[in-house]
Amino acid sequence: MTAVKAHARLAAWIDEVAALTTPDRIVWCDGSEQEWATLTDALVESGALVRLDPAKKPNSFWARTDPNDVARVEERTFICSADEADAGPTNNWMDPAEMKSTMTELYRGCMRGRTMYVVPFCMGPLDAEQPLFGVELTDSPYVVASMRIMTRMGSAVLEAMGSDADFVPALHSVGAPLEPDQEDVAWPCNETKYISHFPETREIWSFGSGYGGNSLLGKKCYALRIASVAARDEGWLAEHMLIMKLTSPEGQVRYIAGAFPSACGKTNLAMLEPTLPGWKVETVGDDIAWMRFGEDGRLWATNPEYGLFGVAPGTDFHTNPNAMRTLARGNSVFTNVALTDDGDIWWEGMGTPPEHLVSWKGEDWTPDSDAPSSHPNSRFCTPIEQCPILADEYHDPRGVPIDAILFGGRRKTTVPLVAEARDWVHGVYLGATLSSETTAAAVGQVGVVRRDPMAMLPFIGYHAGDYFQHWIDMAKGASGDAARLPKIFYVNWFRRDEDGGFLWPGFGENSRVLKWIVERLDGRGEAVETAIGHVPTVAAIDRTGLDLDDADLEAVLRVDRDEWLAEIPQVTEWFERFGDKLPAVLWAELDALKARLA
Ligand code: PEP
Ligand code: NA
Ligand code: MN
Repeated sequence: MTAVKAHARLAAWIDEVAALTTPDRIVWCDGSEQEWATLTDALVESGALVRLDPAKKPNSFWARTDPNDVARVEERTFICSADEADAGPTNNWMDPAEMKSTMTELYRGCMRGRTMYVVPFCMGPLDAEQPLFGVELTDSPYVVASMRIMTRMGSAVLEAMGSDADFVPALHSVGAPLEPDQEDVAWPCNETKYISHFPETREIWSFGSGYGGNSLLGKKCYALRIASVAARDEGWLAEHMLIMKLTSPEGQVRYIAGAFPSACGKTNLAMLEPTLPGWKVETVGDDIAWMRFGEDGRLWATNPEYGLFGVAPGTDFHTNPNAMRTLARGNSVFTNVALTDDGDIWWEGMGTPPEHLVSWKGEDWTPDSDAPSSHPNSRFCTPIEQCPILADEYHDPRGVPIDAILFGGRRKTTVPLVAEARDWVHGVYLGATLSSETTAAAVGQVGVVRRDPMAMLPFIGYHAGDYFQHWIDMAKGASGDAARLPKIFYVNWFRRDEDGGFLWPGFGENSRVLKWIVERLDGRGEAVETAIGHVPTVAAIDRTGLDLDDADLEAVLRVDRDEWLAEIPQVTEWFERFGDKLPAVLWAELDALKARLA
């Protein structure tokens, strides 16, 4: 523990938290195999995890949450900036001192009867020029196991932190102290939940939930909300994006980043198996991209994560064969999926259901059951290094130079399969007005269209108007050469016909859209200029081997004037929410769109 004692700020913080939360013991996590084995054995022993059959999923586990703790809680997520105005209209705000005094009372004695784990972690490779560290203190061994998959963590991190490295203190408690003789439940949590961020002091305080983005604090809380604030201050971007390497049949390599809201297919796109012969996709990241300008004036992206926390239902050998291959290698935690009688996992979308399952609620389930066997936001948590198509560049702390940025949402109508922005500012407009139907990834109603700017609505750590300005200002980073900026595209895999059927087959077939995008980057690729940007002609989408007639393709590419006119009042209302903070150039973009539609 010499390294620990050496870091005075860390040691002092741990003492302070231990005095407040009064855990029975403190365990420093070293990240070793031995530690993982001890931790998961204990979780199996207590009934919190079920070990899967090693012949099916080696070293893998099944977890079920409390039925009231199944997703991110946006209503309970707070940006506690000193000044309320800095949180902006899209975040919940509370005064930092007030939040700290409220949460201090919740934390008082909250780890009684439990172990407090110290989890030193690093977002991105440890050999980065300036590794970005965090330390999570948590009373949830499930969180420790998940953090070991999702981040680089343990002794190596602590050592790299030395005696004075900066780190983000991230405090987490499930908020369920135990009396001396009280038996624990499989999934402890508290009805009262707070997911709080202090952007000025770069701190995270989470209470009451054990679930995903609420509790694995390196992910959404650090790598997006806190990092977006650091990125604004330092001239880079922390984004909710996948990163892919795409190689053409001629061997030309392109790197693409893509922002899509939660549960809209980022993981599937990041691991896509192209149906077009000769094309190759390799994965760099599936959820978070940190992008900085290189000396060459190009925008370089890294994936700060170490694992995948993917939505399980719908994942199978047709939609995402590479995810299935990743999971087959084991070393994974599955949460709120169903358990098969032979010790494997199952979820909706995996083909014919077995005759009997144990559902995510722990109940007997048969194909006649009314409710799905798995929660729609059930997840797999698995090491990214197991992905068979992981790009070598994943390990490179410099990352990859981004050629194109995709913004996409889930829209039944209006938005065509793909459109290319006219220029950077128009692309920022497309991102700022991105809309999508809500999903089960957050607590609340599903299927409601909402604006989700850059797919960052729940993750921007400051005023969204300032965030749009920051995106516009990024153009200055390209060494004065706009041509070095990524080209921006707007995509929608989810458009439907009048009977509710999908107009586009999606998944591996999206390689046809990627091919057109690459052709546009090369100055080829036929397009028509529409009011909303450059849309491919019917002939420009390669349909080799695809059974989709001209009329269907026209329908998915159509830009309908009336549908777009109907968006104008919604966008106007959306922009008005930001008052003076909305960059004037975005109002100008809206005016220009109106003029083109007129
Ligand atoms: C989560 O849901 O908890 C999460 C980490 O990510 P997302 O919602 O973006 O899938
Ligand atoms: Na979620
Ligand atoms: Mn996400």
